[in-house]
Amino acid sequence: MKFEYKTRRLIIRPLNSNDYEQWFDAYVNGLPQKNKWDHSPLKSEKCKKTAFNRTKKKLKELSDQDDYYRYYIFDKKTGAIIGKIDFDIYVRGTHQFANFGYLIFNRYWRKGFGKEASRAGLKIGFKHLKLNRLEAAINLDNKVSIRLAKSIGMKKEGIKKRYWYEFGKWTDHIIYVANPEDIGMKAKKPVIK
Ligand SMILES: CC(C)(COP(=O)(O)OP(=O)(O)OC[C@H]1O[C@@H](n2cnc3c(N)ncnc32)[C@H](O)[C@@H]1OP(=O)(O)O)[C@@H](O)C(=O)NCCC(=O)NCCS
Repeated sequence: MKFEYKTRRLIIRPLNSNDYEQWFDAYVNGLPQKNKWDHSPLKSEKCKKTAFNRTKKKLKELSDQDDYYRYYIFDKKTGAIIGKIDFDIYVRGTHQFANFGYLIFNRYWRKGFGKEASRAGLKIGFKHLKLNRLEAAINLDNKVSIRLAKSIGMKKEGIKKRYWYEFGKWTDHIIYVANPEDIGMKAKKPVIK
């Protein structure tokens, strides 16, 4: 399904075959890693056209299976890829529930792009992907992500203990959630296949 979502400064959409240069630039030319949630820049050998094609193919397969959707965030002015949002579909049926993730490449931090893109991400999740529950699972010490989740209208739900295996251990997460009503949209009945 061809899809594109525009905000004031951004275009949010899946990768397409013409995005190699921007993709390479995003992953290779970042600033050194700034915190544990940040991407560290990759060596250019890791970002050859074959790796790009593999990523694109894998993402297409996953979205065709309704398993996982990753949308890249493009700067309207420059065409650069400045980040990505993703939706990991956990349950459809009577839940319509996905994990919602966001990342801005570190050269573009603190310009409001994270908020602009993830606010749009909630709309994309509810309207385009027909979800009813978007959950951001955040490390307890990731203050910036917590601030972002709050500021786009997500609601704190609680702590999931030992929820995610990362950084070499099972980590607790604070859960921020949005339903359509939280951002002024109407909840829809689930389509149950
Ligand atoms: C979290 C992240 C997406 C924020 O992106 P960003 O474009 O810099 O965020 P914004 O400029 O839209 O700022 C969002 C809010 O956080 C605040 N903020 C951003 N960086 C901050 C910092 N270093 N210190 C304090 N506050 C900060 C902003 O002031 C803003 O707050 P406000 O809504 O009260 O005005 C980005 O830091 C990132 O990609 N981090 C690594 C990946 C990550 O942690 N993802 C989330 C995993 S759960």
